Amino acid sequence: MEIRPLTRDQIEHVWSIDRSEIIENIYTLKDGELVLHPEFCDAPGWEEGEPEKYTPLLQESFDRGGQFFGAFDGGKLAGAAIVDSIWRGPRKDLLQLSFLHVSHAYRGRRLGVRLFERSRQAAKERGAKGFYISATPSEHTVNFYRHLGCIVTAPDPELFAMEPEDIHMECVFS
Ligand SMILES: CC(C)(COP(=O)(O)OP(=O)(O)OC[C@H]1O[C@@H](n2cnc3c(N)ncnc32)[C@H](O)[C@@H]1OP(=O)(O)O)[C@@H](O)C(=O)NCCC(=O)NCCS
Repeated sequence: MEIRPLTRDQIEHVWSIDRSEIIENIYTLKDGELVLHPEFCDAPGWEEGEPEKYTPLLQESFDRGGQFFGAFDGGKLAGAAIVDSIWRGPRKDLLQLSFLHVSHAYRGRRLGVRLFERSRQAAKERGAKGFYISATPSEHTVNFYRHLGCIVTAPDPELFAMEPEDIHMECVFS
């Protein structure tokens, strides 16, 4: 499986990633601590209208210098990651890992970690001290990021307003 930069023309291929997931528990924050709650959701895939709504935003991110990476199984996109170029955090020294998805059939094979590492390398080369991540609150996703050293952080007001249910995290690079 090869990880390589995505071209602008390939951005729309991210919607071919099968993001389906059975969620059994989600995290919320209580007094700054993560609390796990049972909440079942058989999330089937991208919501209707998501590609139409988000493709222009992804293209804008690409045009302002966002870095896009794809994990390819031959010609098939198995996963993708995006590092946006807007500086975040109180010291404006974090870059947002704004997208990280691995197709359902490819999960658990370290592709997520490889995409995270490739993105981290790219962000470090830009001078970032760490990642800002607005994470889907599912147990699996948040635990994946915690496993990689991410911790809960003070939310960025703009990103929090967009995803108030997300768990807002940062990962300081070593
Ligand atoms: C979250 C996601 C990107 C992870 O990708 P993945 O390829 O399945 O994960 P990996 O196989 O690379 O995970 C590997 C590492 O994370 C650890 N890990 C994965 N899930 C974990 C969990 N629930 N709890 C603890 N550790 C976990 C594994 O132990 C493994 O570490 P190791 O190799 O050091 O033992 C993927 O499951 C996904 O796309 N989920 C749905 C979409 C989503 O929520 N994306 C994030 C949006 S913010």
